[in-house]
Amino acid sequence: MTKTNPFKFGSIVSGDYFYNREEDLLRIKQTLSGGNNITLFAPRRYGKSSLVKKALGELEKEEYITVYIDFMSVYSQETFITNYSRAIAHSQKSSLENTVKKIAKYISGIVPSVSFDSSGTPSFSLSWIEGRDKEQTLTDVINLPQKLSSNGKKWIIAFDEFQEVTKLNGDNFEKLLRSCIQHHDDVSYLFFGSKTHLLQDMFNNKNRAFYNAAAVMGIDKIKETESIEYLISRFKSSEISISHQTAKHLLLTVANVPYYIQFIAYEIWQSIMLSHRDKVTLNDIDQAVENILQLKADYYWELTNKQTAYRKKVLYALGQSVTELFSKQTADNYNLGAVSSTQKALEAFIEDGIVERIEGKYEFSDPFYSTFINRNL
Ligand SMILES: Nc1ncnc2c1ncn2[C@@H]1O[C@H](COP(=O)(O)OP(=O)(O)O)[C@@H](O)[C@H]1O
Ligand SMILES: [Mg+2]
Repeated sequence: MTKTNPFKFGSIVSGDYFYNREEDLLRIKQTLSGGNNITLFAPRRYGKSSLVKKALGELEKEEYITVYIDFMSVYSQETFITNYSRAIAHSQKSSLENTVKKIAKYISGIVPSVSFDSSGTPSFSLSWIEGRDKEQTLTDVINLPQKLSSNGKKWIIAFDEFQEVTKLNGDNFEKLLRSCIQHHDDVSYLFFGSKTHLLQDMFNNKNRAFYNAAAVMGIDKIKETESIEYLISRFKSSEISISHQTAKHLLLTVANVPYYIQFIAYEIWQSIMLSHRDKVTLNDIDQAVENILQLKADYYWELTNKQTAYRKKVLYALGQSVTELFSKQTADNYNLGAVSSTQKALEAFIEDGIVERIEGKYEFSDPFYSTFINRNL
């Protein structure tokens, strides 16, 4: 009998793959259904997209119309028009054709087109007509949910990786979006993303369009006890045992980051199955770490060699789990210069996604990269 790996990583997880987050889920649902907007931020790979998708799924069952759009895939105002209007069209329960007709009626600047996939399923797409007033079309598209809500239904709209919105002609687009949505009485918005500092600035800075536009919330790593329980039961579903202590060690190895918990557990499960065993040992964890490091060595070297000599020193200090990065002691021990130089290096790491700043502390985004640095620098 072939068994499927009970662990999953790299994409949005749902169903049995998803665990915990009950309180966050409740809070998100209550805030949105109460008619309020939310900004949700947490470092990448903590499980934001999965959590939000789950919340939307549950709200849909409560008769809300929900729309999800990822701003990673939006790189221009035209792609915003196309992707957003398509996401809105697909959220409608009536036939796609009727919806598209309705949309075309409200927005004169776009043209609907139909294409068929190999199985004959129609798919509609809407694109901006070259030459039409783009700002008017944008305004119309942004106002579409409120227009369509005339049937009394409430809408919930989630903007994933929202900080990327600044790519769309910066300030102007932000201002337009804000000025439109503040009149959307029947729509609640959820803005979220991984670049905490950028999002915080968007919503906390008085000079930005989205200042005070939403209640701010963060999500943490999943509690260790909950993850231990989950690991034990998931391995058990394949008749594999893991002790409480070994599960705890696994979590420590990946600094409790949700993505990496799944990543390493996936590796371990595979090697246990291949060798026809039924128990996870500490050695399995060490072995999995070695495999992963080997797998990623090229990438890690490339990433490291791109760094200046100074940044390498800062990486090295971080890899040694130094917490007082700006102290005189640290500067002496690691041969670092002015605090401002170290600060600049850290900001660059954050910008590149190598490092996260969590509650004032700096942490590698990828715990395996931390191990790599530790061994090789
Ligand atoms: N609640 C959860 N239960 C199980 N795995 C999770 C959970 N949240 C996150 N993960 C793991 O982390 C990975 C990344 O999740 P994702 O929702 O894409 O995070 P983010 O949007 O914060 O980057 C998932 O593929 C999964 O492996
Ligand atoms: Mg995400």
